[in-house]
Amino acid sequence: MKILVINGPNLNMLGKRPKEHYGSMTLDEINSLMLKEAKEDQQLTFYQSNYEGDIVTKIQEALTSYDAIIINPAAYTHTSVAIHDALEMFLGPIVEVHLSHVDDREDFRKVNFIRSVATMTFSGKKEESYIDALKYLEEKLGNK
Ligand code: DQA
Repeated sequence: MKILVINGPNLNMLGKRPKEHYGSMTLDEINSLMLKEAKEDQQLTFYQSNYEGDIVTKIQEALTSYDAIIINPAAYTHTSVAIHDALEMFLGPIVEVHLSHVDDREDFRKVNFIRSVATMTFSGKKEESYIDALKYLEEKLGNK
């Protein structure tokens, strides 16, 4: 099972962002944790960008080459029709992940362009949200 893990803007700064929302791990530490927790058949590729268009291009390239996408679109969750439209073309499961309780924060974070194309969402458990996404995909896709 080939899984593309996409992280959006400012997630490269984890460790320096407010810990009450995002925890204290860096993105590299979260990626290492995911590699440790992934099942043998789960092959992970990590991609982080601060640029909307680069994320769109990465999703377009992934359309035929990955079985599933785990994405934390970060601030683009609340603004990006372009990422929504790119994800809409992906045929496999799309798992939306957030470190924080994104639905219970400021009103501007309640606008969500990604939810309608996501197969499942995990949020509010800091780095554990990513591990929940892996477990979900293992149950859903098994040994694909
Ligand atoms: C986030 C929540 C977003 O609202 C925010 O802009 C982020 C991170 C999260 O993981 O909780 O950068 O996606």
